[in-house]
Amino acid sequence: MRPKGIIIAIDGPTASGKSTTAKQVAARLGYLHINTGAMYRAFALLVHRSAGDGHDPVRIHELIDEAEIGFDGNGNILLNGTDVSREILEPEIALLASELSTNAEVRAKMVEKQRELGAAGGVVLEGRDIGTVVFPDAELKIFLVADAGIRAERREQEFERMGTHISLDELRWQIEERDKRDRERTISPLRKAADAIELDTTNTTIDEQVQRVYELAQGKMEV
Ligand code: DC
Repeated sequence: MRPKGIIIAIDGPTASGKSTTAKQVAARLGYLHINTGAMYRAFALLVHRSAGDGHDPVRIHELIDEAEIGFDGNGNILLNGTDVSREILEPEIALLASELSTNAEVRAKMVEKQRELGAAGGVVLEGRDIGTVVFPDAELKIFLVADAGIRAERREQEFERMGTHISLDELRWQIEERDKRDRERTISPLRKAADAIELDTTNTTIDEQVQRVYELAQGKMEV
């Protein structure tokens, strides 16, 4: 066992339920929740603000050095000391994050930070490559999947709650676009680790998902 508990890695495609599940499981266990997608999004926000479309590799190289990305005590994402939780939810930032996450230098910096934050254990990390690359020795690995139509509907509801309307067709397109890029990129593509447990959330409630992962975590702690 690590000093603060086990490492739980939750990977899966866009809007498969990773964030909600990871957050609630972490709260029940008293663990730290690290949303690694938010880290890529925070970097995308920095690029968007300072370099526009993000296609200039020299500028990206400079920005990687400037970017200080981390979390506050409540799990909010910080970019150079400022909470940017709200700004990173913008769809264009999500697409840019997916694009920038194909860059080896960007990934190296994020992975280094993620290992630093999680090494002591007592942590739930969610992302695309946690079980395969960041912590291949994580004690529990979950791979969440869900039907693309359902994922688009869930995203639509999330945006509606924030007072933003985006059509279902547009959301489905964005989800499929990001899935394709995340799965097909050369470095650390989205894939299920050989020892990950796959959970399909198409027809399950959040409570059921959380309970399942919580029980699996308890099982690992008893070992
Ligand atoms: O989980 P998310 O949708 O907030 O992530 C935004 C983008 O960041 C996603 O399209 C791909 C990238 N990402 C990644 O490459 N590796 C991770 N561990 C997490 C996210």
